Amino acid sequence: MRVLFVCLGNICRSPTAEGVFRRQLAKDGLEDIVGVDSCGIGSWHVGKAPDSRAQAAALRRGIDLSAQRARQLAVEDFYRFDYLLAMDHDNLAAIEAQRPADSRAEAVLFLTYAGYSERAVPDPYYGGEPGFEEVIDLVEEASRGLVETLRERLEAQRS
Ligand code: 4NP
Repeated sequence: MRVLFVCLGNICRSPTAEGVFRRQLAKDGLEDIVGVDSCGIGSWHVGKAPDSRAQAAALRRGIDLSAQRARQLAVEDFYRFDYLLAMDHDNLAAIEAQRPADSRAEAVLFLTYAGYSERAVPDPYYGGEPGFEEVIDLVEEASRGLVETLRERLEAQRS
């Protein structure tokens, strides 16, 4: 099972989601079963490490994002990943606009897994530190929900 987090720049929200979700998987002993990556819709930051404010917010919770490097959504992602998790509505629309006709990947707003039907993870790039704290709070909540859902699906596949 493979999961791809998608935001606009791949330097704030989706790298945070990748780091938080990886830790959640490790806590639940699923890190060898579920593959994880993140990417951006835009190309401006390709090759760069996550924004220093995102790295600092994650480090305050014991999560190191420093090894991540930004990349752009690619057509292969629609075949390599089972879940494409968008941070906001624009990201989701961009995913659907690029989707090849035969791709079966499930694309949804990530916060669906925190129980919100239409809520987005707000873009913190032009704001301050509180925005980065809000991102990580929301992403932690949704990561718990997503791990729970994947665990149920894995158990259903096994039985
Ligand atoms: P992200 O944040 O999509 O959460 O990585 C942004 C990063 C950069 C830009 C916008 C959003 N930008 O316009 O460069």
